Amino acid sequence: MKRILVTGGAGFIGSHTCVCLLESGYEICVIDSLSHSNIKSLYQIKEIFLKKKINIKDKLKFFKGDLIDKEFIDSVFKKSKKENKPINGVIHFAGLKSVSESVLNPLKYWENNVFGSFNLIKTMLENNCTTIVFSSSATVYGNTSDSLIKESSKIQPINPYGSTKCAVENLLNDLFNTKKDEWRIAILRYFNPIGAHPSSLIGENPLQKPNNIFPLIINAAYEQKHLKVFGNDWPTHDGTCIRDYIHIMDLADGHIKALDYLISNNSQLINLNIGTGHGHSVLDLIKTFELINNVKVPFIFSNRRKGDVCKLVANNLRAKRILSWFPNRSIEQMCRDGWNWKMLNPNGF
Ligand code: NAD
Ligand code: UD1
Repeated sequence: MKRILVTGGAGFIGSHTCVCLLESGYEICVIDSLSHSNIKSLYQIKEIFLKKKINIKDKLKFFKGDLIDKEFIDSVFKKSKKENKPINGVIHFAGLKSVSESVLNPLKYWENNVFGSFNLIKTMLENNCTTIVFSSSATVYGNTSDSLIKESSKIQPINPYGSTKCAVENLLNDLFNTKKDEWRIAILRYFNPIGAHPSSLIGENPLQKPNNIFPLIINAAYEQKHLKVFGNDWPTHDGTCIRDYIHIMDLADGHIKALDYLISNNSQLINLNIGTGHGHSVLDLIKTFELINNVKVPFIFSNRRKGDVCKLVANNLRAKRILSWFPNRSIEQMCRDGWNWKMLNPNGF
């Protein structure tokens, strides 16, 4: 049985991916500083399995610590080795993700996202672990006029958060190019993950004021306080921006497919867009949310947000072809699962 290290595994995408990893028979070690998450997400994962009468106690180990601390990362690898279960691969989620905060405090983002990744990757190499799935973002494409973004589209981040993702991508590319027979690397560029696990036992739990549209829609519906829709004068069918929203479980599933693929193929580096390939406007999303959940989402139009892009939709053909990964959960399911999570856990974890 393979053992996988999941950094940032207590967070939104990490926790959902941990469920899929365990379902696929992997053992996992989670490293998380809990700076942006709650340990309860991991307890709830155990609940998901207990409901199915499966005890995963020995299959999920948690190590609280920060990737800034290289000795700490090394100790996790060493402990695993001592148990005769060396870490076979890493899924690297740990990172800070607020664009606005990164503009105010780029040093914090470079230290956490780039230096933290540097420590992780160096420790991996020292421990003969060279398989990694890295959480990148569609934000690396910056402002683009391409209607469907391909992996070969121009990389031109427009904020420090995007620059940190690019820097780690570049580091991984440099490593791979130096020793092509050593590394197995999948760089996943996510589009807009939303929704929650269908059990409603885990979901998105922002500790700070959210900036992304979906948690803001949920809060607007729950508190009946209006949400600001940034601009109604974009060149789209209803004047609001278009994004590629993807169900969190489809995104999580993409990680398992990427990991399985890396493990069973020759060393390589692949960049993959992880989106559905379908665009929805902000108003489409709000209307679907209202309809499927029978709840009002109050909103007002306000000015365009600085740095916003009109349309960001993935060309996901490469991920489909290489990984045989097919996102199939609808926008209705995303809205329903996200709202159910909120209704059952109004204060999060
Ligand atoms: P999240 O904040 O819910 O999870 C990130 C986790 O990493 C948190 O649990 C946090 O405590 C932990 N963490 C952060 N820095 C750490 C460090 N230095 N050491 C140890 N733990 C640390 O965010 P998420 O939405 O789950 O995002 C996961 C990854 O995916 C991030 O790298 C993010 O940039 C990337 N991403 C997210 C989105 C999105 O819309 N959610 C889109 C594109 C890319
Ligand atoms: C944003 C980040 C991107 C990051 C991604 C996931 C910016 C410019 N981009 O992308 O780098 O990778 O989140 O974390 O911040 N909207 C509103 N009202 C709101 C919030 C959002 O109308 O209060 C609209 C936006 O204009 C956009 C859509 O909702 O059209 C989605 O916004 P958001 O969830 O922030 O995601 P992105 O803009 O795709």
